[in-house]
Amino acid sequence: MKETKLWINGNWEDAKKSYSLTAPYSGEVIARVAKASTEDVERAIEGAHQAFQSFKTTTAYERAEILYKVVEIMRNRKEEFARILAMEAGKPLSASLTEIDRTIATYQFSAEAAKQSTGETVPLDAAPGTKDRIGYTKRVPIGVVSAITPFNFPFNLVAHKLGPAIAVGNTVVLKPATQTPLTSIVMAEVFKEAGLPDGVLQIVTGSGGELSDTLVTHPLVKKVTFTGSGAVGLKIKEKVGLRKITLELGSNAAVIVEPSTPIDKIVSRCVAGAFGYAGQVCISLQRIYVHESIYEDFAKAFVEETRKLKLGDPLDPTTDVSAMIHPKEVERIKQWVEEAKEQGAEVAIGAEYTDRTLQPTVMVNVKPNMKVVCQETFAPIVSLVPYPTLDEAISLVNASELGLNAGIYTNVLTDAMKAADNIEAGTVVINDIPTFRVDNMPYGGVKNSGYGREGIKYAIEEMTDLKFITIKTTI
Ligand code: SIN
Repeated sequence: MKETKLWINGNWEDAKKSYSLTAPYSGEVIARVAKASTEDVERAIEGAHQAFQSFKTTTAYERAEILYKVVEIMRNRKEEFARILAMEAGKPLSASLTEIDRTIATYQFSAEAAKQSTGETVPLDAAPGTKDRIGYTKRVPIGVVSAITPFNFPFNLVAHKLGPAIAVGNTVVLKPATQTPLTSIVMAEVFKEAGLPDGVLQIVTGSGGELSDTLVTHPLVKKVTFTGSGAVGLKIKEKVGLRKITLELGSNAAVIVEPSTPIDKIVSRCVAGAFGYAGQVCISLQRIYVHESIYEDFAKAFVEETRKLKLGDPLDPTTDVSAMIHPKEVERIKQWVEEAKEQGAEVAIGAEYTDRTLQPTVMVNVKPNMKVVCQETFAPIVSLVPYPTLDEAISLVNASELGLNAGIYTNVLTDAMKAADNIEAGTVVINDIPTFRVDNMPYGGVKNSGYGREGIKYAIEEMTDLKFITIKTTI
């Protein structure tokens, strides 16, 4: 069985403790994973700080070359990486391959962004008494970035932190999710082969509050970037002090389906958005508001399309939906569904459980305050709700503490623009599901869905300082 180590200063190091890693679908133990101690994390941060002293002096060309090499290596090892991802995260193979493609794109965008960092000239002579002065801005790296990443996209959401950080000359201490360390461990090999200097990327695996506290509060850490639950995000935010921080905290994404929408053209897309990776996606489609004039037809077609999904082993290429990440998550969501049923909701299809899986589930007759509606389910569950007017639909979408992505289907431009202007979300997607994401677009939420933005160029702004240089051209 694989036994993993910590990646510190370019060496694989043993940890004093370890834990068993279990495959979400089969329940088999697939690895013993090194558990970093507080001292290990401190050493990793100090090493990253040391490495920063020379990495910050590298040229954009050199950093871009490393990232282009990462792209090349990943292209060559795509199938192998997809299998690791499918096994440790329980992500169906086809979705795993898609994630690898997206990860490659994320590193490619990062390589390109390394070369595109620009500043601006500031017209200093606009103020009185400033003759013979010029000034310009540039973005400068900040130092050690602590990156804490989730289980659901363990290649690509790691890439969204490593890519921009390395592009601008920062160093990173990465703590991958406890359930998905193997995908990060192979990336250490990839970066080494790509020529990344030792210490620029440190990987500390494990779990526990102390480990995270050190990553978030160590004096040498200049920026924390976290993707995960709102509860943990809030705790981190309270601890970071004056450090820079980016939080991506998930949502209960909604789409509005207006009467002008051809149902047959969107149903399978909506089903994919609701049940892809068993709904364990921050922008998974969780609430579908359908105009009452087409609700019955939409609901019927949606349930029929859901019935076609195959639940099974993630390594089977024909599987659409596999296990949830942990049996306790199945237990949690079962309670939410039961609670909703007690409050009057009905199950149109699904709500069949094993210890590790939940059959794709469609709920109807839900109320806005039910947990399956107003909280992030992170499970293969979607609610269908009829509405009478677009204004009412927008109010229902906004009746939430969360706001990452939202969508609307309509052929009426004025309605699309009304939704775009009035929906409270980081992104409004017109004529597609809110699950749409391309890796160079700005990504982040409003309300309790997060703080700051990712999407390489936008992440770079949050991982650099703006430096102003001014020159007096005469003495
Ligand atoms: C997330 O779950 O936050 C990421 C979703 C995506 O990148 O598609």
